[in-house]
Amino acid sequence: MSELSRRVAQAICAARKTVALTGAGISAESGIPTFRDPGGLWDRYDPEEYATIEAFRRNPAKVWQMMKDFTALKTARPNPAHIGLAQLEHMGLLHCIITQNVDNLHQAAGSRNVIEFHGNMRQVICQRCGTVLPLDEISLDTLPPYCKCGGVFKPAGVFFGEPIPPQALTRAYEAARTCDLMLVIGTSAVVYPAADIPVVAKQAGAQVIEINPECTDLTGRISDLIIQDKAGVVIPQILAAINAMAS
Ligand code: APR
Repeated sequence: MSELSRRVAQAICAARKTVALTGAGISAESGIPTFRDPGGLWDRYDPEEYATIEAFRRNPAKVWQMMKDFTALKTARPNPAHIGLAQLEHMGLLHCIITQNVDNLHQAAGSRNVIEFHGNMRQVICQRCGTVLPLDEISLDTLPPYCKCGGVFKPAGVFFGEPIPPQALTRAYEAARTCDLMLVIGTSAVVYPAADIPVVAKQAGAQVIEINPECTDLTGRISDLIIQDKAGVVIPQILAAINAMAS
């Protein structure tokens, strides 16, 4: 049990409203590669070729093939960090999670109040008529998948160059403005507007705590504290400290 985890546990118990912002790092221990760590997804796939809406429109089959190959998204299970955040929510100690991830692992862990800032990969949207279907209701035998109207289906994840879903944007900024503690877990905080959310929380007077093995742009500038360790190690320590305080 680290002294820092104990301090964060005390901060969570003392807070009026705690909000978490999560990134790919919280799913690293579930076997899903992050984007910018060494050997990460953007080392293997050029985001200009696979992650922009222009790239998708240019060659949807190529982008769909990359996603089809990305089997980790289908097989990954929640790790102790996802499970611990769901427990905090059930204990009334975590108001919501704003996640940049599209892996659905927070929901699979039991979290209910999850704001999907970059959309999700569970659904597809027709680029012509706007029809939305669950991903598992369409065939990926031929790529790209087409809608009955002849339009191309796109995953419901937000590509670079696309807007953040308006409702997610509004809810996330409202949560950041009204919390007094923000846990920033597993994000390099380099992609906007998600990286602005801890700044909004800080400006609203919240304490900002990072859980990340590496320092980020937020460290020492926005965040008050960083626990430099893996989320799958730290979150269970925080839960254990909270349970010890309660007993
Ligand atoms: N626990 C906590 N943090 C971790 C762990 C771990 N086990 N492993 C890695 N990290 C940290 C890394 O140090 C890094 O700071 O997670 C962060 C991952 O950063 P990125 O790969 O940049 O992922 P993220 O911040 O979520 O990217 C934001 O960029 O490409 C877009 O849409 C994509 O949502 C994504 C956005």
